[in-house]
Amino acid sequence: MAKQIKRIGVLTSGGDASGMNAVIRSIVRYSIYKNIEVYGYYEGFKGLIANNYKLLSNNSVGGIIDRGGTFLFTARSEEFKTKEGLITAKNNLESNNIDALVIIGGDGSFRGARDLNNSGINAVGIPATIDNDIYGTDYSIGFDTALNVIISLISKIRDTASSHERIFVIEVMGRNSGELAIKASVAAGADYVLIPEIKVDLVKISNAIKNHREGKRHTLVIVAEGAAKATDVAASIKLLVEHEVRISVLGHIQRGGSPSAMDRILAAQFAQKAIDFLISGGTNAMVGIQNNEIKTVPFEEVFNGKKEIDRNLYELAHILAL
Ligand code: F6P
Repeated sequence: MAKQIKRIGVLTSGGDASGMNAVIRSIVRYSIYKNIEVYGYYEGFKGLIANNYKLLSNNSVGGIIDRGGTFLFTARSEEFKTKEGLITAKNNLESNNIDALVIIGGDGSFRGARDLNNSGINAVGIPATIDNDIYGTDYSIGFDTALNVIISLISKIRDTASSHERIFVIEVMGRNSGELAIKASVAAGADYVLIPEIKVDLVKISNAIKNHREGKRHTLVIVAEGAAKATDVAASIKLLVEHEVRISVLGHIQRGGSPSAMDRILAAQFAQKAIDFLISGGTNAMVGIQNNEIKTVPFEEVFNGKKEIDRNLYELAHILAL
């Protein structure tokens, strides 16, 4: 028989993503509606080890739906990856009578959630990372907001690039994934996009840019941080092209700001699904959205799959820049 869920914990882990606060708010309010108490653990898995938590009420999550970051703070905990760390966390959770955990984060955070499950603690995951690189969900919380931040920054860069007839190399986040870079390229009307999934020859690209300049006042090249360094791309272009080249590394600005409507709505839907899943006896899985349907995906499936980039969109970005 499924364990009755009376008290849960919630935490945010890994890199922050805009919309995490909206998820926490929805988890708290939907759980209370279902007669479940919610404890917020601070600083991700670190908080489980330090037993640093607070009872959350409907009021304590008021006024946070539109705030970026996470009011529970976040961290990447090395200690939690040790056997001792996991045992301390498990013992703390059991002595606090926590029946299940909701872990908001990315792939690394879900591996921690899986380890908790293996040690006997029920835990589910809600995907939140601007990289949108998690298999099993079309979208992760924070991706849409980051994408909108990026395209609004690129619009500003375009103004100055065009005024000076310059080439700009713009580096966006994405350690292992070109999701942000490809979609930003299409949405911002960039000319070239470099992503980690598709290796390109910088000399070839530089030559293409040289030929492509004909009749153009500016050239925008978007590079995902995992594909190459903006400085290297710019140096390669400079060797072949007579126009001035400038770089702009967008950095952590991409992770901040008020969440988009899409991220807030997804936050509410993911939270509801996570709580209903726990109540029905489910565990060891991530909540996701596939073809507009909110689903649960077992963690092992998430870890064994590989999210593919949209190759058509990658090609379309270049076709539309001709
Ligand atoms: O995983 C999200 C992400 O924003 C990546 O795109 C980026 O490479 C990384 O986090 C940066 O991490 P940190 O904030 O620790 O520098």
